[in-house]
Order: sequence, then structure tokens, then C-alpha cells
Amino acid sequence: MLAIGCDHGGFKLKEDIVAHLKKNGVVFKDFGTFDENSVDYPDIASAVCESIIAGECVNGILVCGTGIGISIAANKHKGIRAAVCSDEFSTKFTRLHNDANVLCLGGRVVGPGIACELVDIFLNTEFEGGRHAVRVQKIHDIENK
Ligand code: RB5
Repeated sequence: MLAIGCDHGGFKLKEDIVAHLKKNGVVFKDFGTFDENSVDYPDIASAVCESIIAGECVNGILVCGTGIGISIAANKHKGIRAAVCSDEFSTKFTRLHNDANVLCLGGRVVGPGIACELVDIFLNTEFEGGRHAVRVQKIHDIENK
């Protein structure tokens, strides 16, 4: 299952992504927020990341105004590899090479058309493994120091 969440800056884009996921039959759990009232993005990042760490969800999408704050917060969680992306190439390669398990998007940066394309790339690109697995393991070795 996919986890999705946003702050107020990402709310509108999250709604577009949710509609896109429903249209494509993607099973997801929505961790809010559910309107444009101000919330703190680290709280939403934690809800989504903890569901992945617990094994309830396998990957996640997080949206804030820029995608940056929520990605910084997400990457503080052990086992989370969150990538903020706004283009197809980066989204494809963060799956192929980094095995990113959270895609972060900026609701004030990308429009709904490109965002939904990035979501599809994120969900449909497999990690290459091999030498990249060694590097991803080294990231987690840093986490465990
Ligand atoms: C909220 O105004 C804004 O700071 C937040 O959505 C995000 O862009 C932070 O990085």
C-alpha cells in the first residue's frame, strides 16, 4: 500500500494526486492534511514515514509547498530515502539508483500534470540493485553509526 500526506502548502496538489491514484486503481492510505488550514509538515512526514517503517505501507508520497521541508523531515526517519523531484529524469533515477521509498513534491513548484507523471514513474520504476545496493547500504550504515 502507498502512503500519502501533505501540509497546507501541498493540499491542492495532493487532492489532484489522490484523484489520479483512484482513477488508476492504486491502493493508498491518506494521512492528511484534509484542508488548507495550517499544519506542521514534520508531523505529516512522521505519520507517513512511520507507516512505512512499520510495514503498513511500502512507499509514500509527501507534498508541501516546495517539497523540501517535508523531505528533510522524512529523511530523519531510519530506513526512509526521500527524494524531492520536479522532473522525470530525477524521479526515474532516484528509483533506479537510490531505491527512494518516498517521493516529495512541491505543490507550489510543479503543476498537477507533471506531478501525476512523476508519481507514475515513481510507482512503476524498479530499483536496479547491484552496485547501487552497496551504496544504499552505506547510507544506512551512516544512519546506524
Ligand atoms: C508552509 O508555508 C511551507 O513552509 C511548507 O509547505 C514547505 O514549503 C516547507 O518546506
